[in-house]
Amino acid sequence: MSECNRTMEDVKTLLQSTDRPRIDPRESRKLYNVWAGTYDQDFTLMNYKAPQLAVEFISEHFSGNPEDALVLDVACGSGWVARRMAELGFKSFEGVDGSRAMLDQAAKTGLYKDLRLALLGPEALPARTGVFDVVVIVGALNAGYVHVSVVRELCGAAKPGGLVCMVRSDHGGINIEYKADLDRELQRMEEEGLWTPVGIKLLDRYMEDPYAEEICVSGTAYLFKKSID
Ligand SMILES: C[S@@+](CC[C@H](N)C(=O)[O-])C[C@H]1O[C@@H](n2cnc3c(N)ncnc32)[C@H](O)[C@@H]1O
Repeated sequence: MSECNRTMEDVKTLLQSTDRPRIDPRESRKLYNVWAGTYDQDFTLMNYKAPQLAVEFISEHFSGNPEDALVLDVACGSGWVARRMAELGFKSFEGVDGSRAMLDQAAKTGLYKDLRLALLGPEALPARTGVFDVVVIVGALNAGYVHVSVVRELCGAAKPGGLVCMVRSDHGGINIEYKADLDRELQRMEEEGLWTPVGIKLLDRYMEDPYAEEICVSGTAYLFKKSID
């Protein structure tokens, strides 16, 4: 079957075949290096709403001029988040991803001033600290993808008063433990005075469920404001 003739059922089968407990992010790098060419098409078929939901959440709370804002898109993939933000007037993007092939797709958008390859967790976030008006990560805070410890680096990259938006899916047994770890780390960082929560949203239509018909995977969107020292 030609890739461009794939149906939602084909993509669901593909997603199920990749759904195993990946505990090493190098596995996810391999997966996305293969997937990059058809990622947008496949996730469009799956009614993937996460980038749009992230951008709506940011724009509800962003008070500056989008044209002047510097945005760090972490695990940027093919650039879907930046494409949605650009529609709202955001213009300056830097991106980081662990997959070279996904970065090549992101480069084609022409939106990023800088794109860096880094497997976060094993490698440090290759971004300046304390300068970004918005730091966003969508679809990568899951087991075997971006380790919970990286959340501190996201906060570090934001400027004082900047927003950090994190959107993730909540499905999968192994991710229950990940989410508990994540929630503990977010709480710890709040107690340390690094940031304050702006809001948390439960997303009931993150994307189609690969295992069921007419049911959506749910997700969570977190928005924090970095403290002003
Ligand atoms: C589901 S895609 C999301 C991409 C994009 N944010 C979006 O919403 O379309 C997950 C992305 O996370 C990247 N990724 C996964 N684990 C990573 C890691 N440890 N470090 C950097 N990127 C990672 C993958 O390469 C992939 O591009």
